[in-house]
Amino acid sequence: MAVRTDAVGRLLTQAVLTALEAPSVLNTQPWHWRIDGDAAQLSADRTRQLRVIDPDGRLLTLCCGSSLHHARVALAADGVAVAVSYLPDEADPDLLAVLQYHGSAEPSTAAQRLRAAIGRRRSDRRPFTDEPVPDAVVARLARAAADAGANLHVARPQDRSTLAVAAGHAANVERSDPAYRAEIATWVRGGLPAEVAAQSSGVRPVSLRALDDEPDASIYSGQRVTDRNARYVIVVTDGDSPRDWLTAGEAYSAVVLGAIADGLAFSPMSDLVEVVAARTTLRRMLGDVGWPAMVVRLGVAAASRGAPRSPLRPTADVMDVA
Ligand SMILES: Cc1cc2nc3c(=O)[nH]c(=O)nc-3n(C[C@H](O)[C@H](O)[C@H](O)COP(=O)(O)O)c2cc1C
Repeated sequence: MAVRTDAVGRLLTQAVLTALEAPSVLNTQPWHWRIDGDAAQLSADRTRQLRVIDPDGRLLTLCCGSSLHHARVALAADGVAVAVSYLPDEADPDLLAVLQYHGSAEPSTAAQRLRAAIGRRRSDRRPFTDEPVPDAVVARLARAAADAGANLHVARPQDRSTLAVAAGHAANVERSDPAYRAEIATWVRGGLPAEVAAQSSGVRPVSLRALDDEPDASIYSGQRVTDRNARYVIVVTDGDSPRDWLTAGEAYSAVVLGAIADGLAFSPMSDLVEVVAARTTLRRMLGDVGWPAMVVRLGVAAASRGAPRSPLRPTADVMDVA
């Protein structure tokens, strides 16, 4: 890969390297970044699309939006102003966004705080402690989602049974489909360490997607109940178009980085939006206002050591310099 040594090139390269650390569904990392002149271009890598789980590319686009947000955080932290164009070329719908260098700005301390969280961020599927999630933090995360152009629905106590039913239904539908199980097995084998995929002992009020062959225990199994004080939030967009999915990804990134910066742990639960009936159930719970794009479980981590890290693709496969 060619290396840019001029100041703008170095800043853009640094931002793109940060963007490559963004989270993605089943660690697919379905993006490609190109640095061209004073711009960084983000494209979808359709070879990494999950054909069974994500036939319309909603999650793929959301992941790319999350990578875009990571790049913007790095640039804002370094005091670099950029103009952002979304879906700038009708003839090339896979060109999702372009960041055009726009001079220097005051480095943002808020962005520096989020950038520091990027290196520590992991999806943490382990059970959370019973320590409550402070309301003030949840309110801050809702503002972060709003700043990114989305809404954050904070699940109310009465929403929990709806979430549990939607999660149970999503698991039944997906796990009874051999093509789904094959897709999960392929990507877990290819990109997730076994330790990351393993579920926990105990049962949860709202089950998580099983990444191995062991579905969550039934709540009738008599096992210890965990995640009693987990909070669930839903990133909600006004519409359901590729532009909205990018917004959802930026908001998702803002929420999870904000959560890490505030000392919380999280794990995403996209199975609830993948299965049509589960997603419809969530929409109904939201009073048919907006489109649920992503569900996130928030809590206080139990273990003192961090959750394990998922491997990144080789840099040369995911970025180049024109
Ligand atoms: C759009 C999206 C959907 C995801 N869905 C799930 C999910 O349903 N269940 C889960 O355990 N993890 C889910 N994840 C977490 C990814 O598996 C995780 O981000 C990836 O393996 C990289 O690991 P890291 O987040 O620890 O860096 C999702 C992540 C994204 C961005």
